[in-house]
Formats: sequence, C-alpha cells, structure tokens
Amino acid sequence: MTASTIEPPLALLAELSHRCPLRCPYCSNPLALERASAELDTATWERVLREAAALGVLQVHFSGGEPLVRHDLATLVGAARAAGLYSNLITSGVLLDRPRLAALVEAGLDHVQLSFQDAEPVGADRIAGLAGAHDKKLSAAALVREMQLPLTVNAVVHRQNLERLPQMIALALGLGAQRLEVAHVQYYGWGLANRRALLPTIDQLERATALVEAERARLKGVLTIDYVLPDYYARRPKACMGGWGQRFLNISPAGKVLPCHAAESLPGFAFPSVMTASLSDIWYRSEAFNRFRGTAWMPEPCLSCERREIDWGGCRCQAFALTGDAARTDPACALAPDRALLDRARDDAQGPTDFVYRQIGAVASHQRVPS
Ligand code: SF4
Ligand code: FES
Repeated sequence: MTASTIEPPLALLAELSHRCPLRCPYCSNPLALERASAELDTATWERVLREAAALGVLQVHFSGGEPLVRHDLATLVGAARAAGLYSNLITSGVLLDRPRLAALVEAGLDHVQLSFQDAEPVGADRIAGLAGAHDKKLSAAALVREMQLPLTVNAVVHRQNLERLPQMIALALGLGAQRLEVAHVQYYGWGLANRRALLPTIDQLERATALVEAERARLKGVLTIDYVLPDYYARRPKACMGGWGQRFLNISPAGKVLPCHAAESLPGFAFPSVMTASLSDIWYRSEAFNRFRGTAWMPEPCLSCERREIDWGGCRCQAFALTGDAARTDPACALAPDRALLDRARDDAQGPTDFVYRQIGAVASHQRVPS
C-alpha cells in the first residue's frame, strides 16, 4: 500500500501507565511491564492528542494498566475534549472516587468502561488479585450512573467464571449499564501465560453463546450485549484490530506507537516513538505499520483466499505466540497449516486452576507457548 491509499485511523488507545492495583491473569499488557519512571509526561500526551485529532482520529480510549494512577488524567481528558476527540475511560474502577470522577466529568469525559472479574466478590477478588476490589467497582459504577455518564460493563470470561454468566448479565442490568461486553480471554500476554487455567471447555462455550443469544433478544432496547468469541474454538479468525495499521493506533506508556496492544510481544520490530517522529509519519510511512498492512505480505492460503480483505489473515500476535512467526496464517483459521497447534492447546487446557498473576518480572518477556 502507498501512503495515498492508506485511510486515517479511527481510534487511539492511550495506555497511560502499566501500573495497576489489580493483577488479572489475562491482562493484555506485555509481560515486560513498563515502570513509572519511563512514562510520557503530561505535555507530551497533550501534544500527541492534538496530533491524533489532526491525523483523523475520532475517539481516544484512556487505558493502562489503570489510567487513574495518573494524577494528570483530568488534564489529558481536557486536552482530548479541546482537540475534538470523544473520550472513553477504560478502568478497573477501584481508584475512582467522587472528587476524581467529578473532575473528569468537568474536563469533558464522554464515557466509562468498567471491568468486572466475576459476579460475586470472593471469586472476583481472587481473579483480580486484590481483596475488596469487587465492592469498590460496585461503588464506582453507582457514581458513574449518578453523574449520568454512559456506562459499559466489561466482563472478561473464561473457564473459571463462565458458569456465572447469567449473574454477570444481571449485574450489568442492575448497575444501569447501557452496554455489556462479554469478552472471552484472548491468549497473548498474560492470558497466554495462564492459558491452561483459563481456556473454557467446548460445552461451556456453547452454553454461553446460546445464553448470550437468548439474552440479547430478551433485553433488546434495554442492554446491548457485545460478544467476543475465543479464537481457539473458531473456524475463521477475527479481523484483529480491523486489520494491521488500518483503524487503530496504540501508544504505550513510554510512547511507543503500536498497531495493537500486544505488538510489543513481537521480536524484530523497532516500533517508533512519539518522542522521535510525528504520529502522521508513523501511521503512513513507518516500516512497523506497513509490515502487515494490506495483503501483499500474506503467505498462502491467505494470499489467494476470498476472505483476505475481510479478516486480513487474523491476528499477527497470535500467529507469533503459537508458531514463532508473526507472518504465518493465524492458526485460528481452520485452513492454516498450523491449525493442529490450536487443537493441541485445547486438549492441554483442562489442567490447573492456579494463576500466574501479573507483576513486574513474573515471567520472561517474549514468552511463547511451545508447540
Ligand atoms: Fe482468513 Fe487466511 Fe484463513 Fe482465508 S486462509 S480465512 S484470509 S486466515
Ligand atoms: Fe496484535 Fe492481533 S493482538 S495483531
């Protein structure tokens, strides 16, 4: 693709910090977590938000880690509003109190997305790795609704909480959420490190999918339910990030600009930094963004497949995690030469229930599950 045929990005995921009071075992952050001393300062984020808007970005998702660990969050929300960006706060909620939320509303925050680990406190706090987290989230959700911000509840589901999906749907309804995202764990980063403890059974998956379909019909007009299926049981992969370098930009706490939140797991990439290049240059001209853009890079069977511009060959990070080569067809595709790797992973998954919790230095970086 040439710069003149590349569309501008729609959304920016601003990972303000990898710091987080929770330690979820499926966190999408890289295994090598960035320390606070490496984080971009306020003025740089303000410039980056202006550059993003000028590039054509419409929405900014403030994320982490936990974005509320940054004391300048309201300033950054204000900068997003001034640049004309729609702002969404993706948070665990445990640091959200009345004064902080009031400051964010005052600065122009448009939407809150609050994560829940389970529907009941004991299991939820065990998954989050923090006692008392669930109750704090309930209080945060009540504050969000009291201040009349739209609320999305994000429920990450897996083998150890899927049985309580009915209660999670009831929880989202009771909290007054407009939207519920039921997202199966994606297996890269910490999710890959904990795959054997998290991957659901096919029975669990089929029951959950049937339940979501029934609840979508029952709650039409009251609660919108988004459903993200696990690739490990799919016949065709998802169009990860809407295609590499096609819709999304991700900026890491230290300022690396990535095509997706997991791209730092890929070796051999020199991801450019907002400290040394403009977002526009990075989006249109960097080698990192152009490497898997479009279809010219594809191997067979993708290159001659009729779905090549629908799913763009699947997920590069998953291809690397499973095969060791980011340029292979995603094994989530039943046509992929490496499909057997997924079958083996599923067979291997009904084992331990203990987690490797997210923390700095817990497991080696660039971890790959051997075939
Ligand atoms: Fe998608 Fe490639 Fe599979 Fe075709 S062969 S469905 S393009 S992953
Ligand atoms: Fe990186 Fe899918 S998560 S391409």
